[in-house]
Amino acid sequence: MKPINVGLLGLGTVGGGTLTVLRRNREEIARRAGREIRVTHAAVRDMDKAQAYAGLGLTLTADPFDVVNNPKIDIVVELIGGIEPARTLVLQAIANGKHVVTANKALIAKYGNEIFAAAQEKGVMVNFEAAVAGGIPIIKAIREGLAGNRIEWLAGIINGTCNFILSEMRDKGAAFDAVLKEAQAKGYAEADPTFDIEGVDAAHKLTILSAIAFGVPMQFDAAHIEGISTLAAEDIQYAEELGYRIKLLGIAKRHANGIELRVHPTLIPAKRLIANVEGVMNAVLVKGDAVGATLYYGAGAGSEPTASAVVADLVDVTRLSTADPHHRVPHLAFQPDQLAALAVVPMAEVETACYLRMAAADRPGVLAEVARILAAQDISIDAMIQKPCNEGEHLATLVFLIHKAREAAVDVAIAQIEALPAISGKVTRLRMESLA
Ligand code: NDP
Ligand code: HSE
Repeated sequence: MKPINVGLLGLGTVGGGTLTVLRRNREEIARRAGREIRVTHAAVRDMDKAQAYAGLGLTLTADPFDVVNNPKIDIVVELIGGIEPARTLVLQAIANGKHVVTANKALIAKYGNEIFAAAQEKGVMVNFEAAVAGGIPIIKAIREGLAGNRIEWLAGIINGTCNFILSEMRDKGAAFDAVLKEAQAKGYAEADPTFDIEGVDAAHKLTILSAIAFGVPMQFDAAHIEGISTLAAEDIQYAEELGYRIKLLGIAKRHANGIELRVHPTLIPAKRLIANVEGVMNAVLVKGDAVGATLYYGAGAGSEPTASAVVADLVDVTRLSTADPHHRVPHLAFQPDQLAALAVVPMAEVETACYLRMAAADRPGVLAEVARILAAQDISIDAMIQKPCNEGEHLATLVFLIHKAREAAVDVAIAQIEALPAISGKVTRLRMESLA
């Protein structure tokens, strides 16, 4: 059978890895796909940097439109990242009748609805396994492996950079900025690393997971997003003392009236498997009504782990490219005319248990004042620790774990606690999940 021709857009961390894996495992991949998958063209921005790839028999160009408009190319693999020119290139490839594979979660989370509609119209595939959790085949697992289930919730460590930073800070007491630099050097971080540390990248991925889990359109703009940039080392330490680990989690839950879609640092009981996922590794817990809880674990970023997912998509597209478009797996797991109109629940209505830390004057009655405010909001205290003042200081640290309460009630309590004369500065609030 004639080889399938692939055009790569981007030869950076993931593009370079994809080329390497395709070349190293060429025979094995062809035996799986039923025909050879060969990269014939690649676009880069800086042709000097791409000289390392000269002599591999592919045509290099600085104009990515050369690739998407080339009639000989069957599949375009978008590994440039960002929104433009990636969006225009993907839409142009689709308009030209080409299948697309992408690792670009920002693009899919923000413009997926438009891209999938265009692909549906043209009868081409757009696969995006590498966009979520790097090398873990989580899209395939939810879209196909769990197709018999009604998914109730999912929660995941889906940003390798943040998990790497949190692990290094906890284990080695490393400084935030130094670990972020290391993550960048290893190729884990996004081109703009604020996307990682502010939780935006995890929210892109969570948006995609929620769409395929619940059969809803992409609703990135409605997600609640908090990152780890303001997380204090002392909170990591106090959480440990209380038997918890802090992880940046993406959480999507189905309710009768909508879905929760939130990304924030989260205290998880230290004994849970997912609490022990360290470094750049990712893990996603998915709870289906039939199967119960399932856990998926693996490298969440990096050159070859991500290439593993890109190449798997290439094999899928190659296998299915001759199938009738109406009999392929739908892009977003559910048939396009069967998407549910479930809106994202406002964060104020979400209920979670919380960790609250505050600096309080070390004098009689302060604890009682805080407890009174919490009680007035119907918030019940689960545990509490007090750290004595350092010598020469007059402020003690109070840490409360509170049982599940509505976000709006906790907001009111925090505002009233911060207004107490005995409380200094802001109250730190971290949400907790039992993931039982
Ligand atoms: P890199 O920055 O390492 O690579 C980007 C590549 O795209 C470079 O080869 C760059 O060329 C090229 N490029 C950028 N703009 C243009 C343009 N306008 N025209 C032609 N080529 C262009 O990024 P990554 O490989 O890390 O990421 C690629 C995608 O994969 C992103 O969407 C990212 O979110 C996603 N991803 C990344 C993971 C990772 O671990 N790194 C994991 C999962 C997904 P040049 O070098 O010449 O500038
Ligand atoms: N920057 C991303 C991360 C890459 O750290 O998880 C993988 O999507």
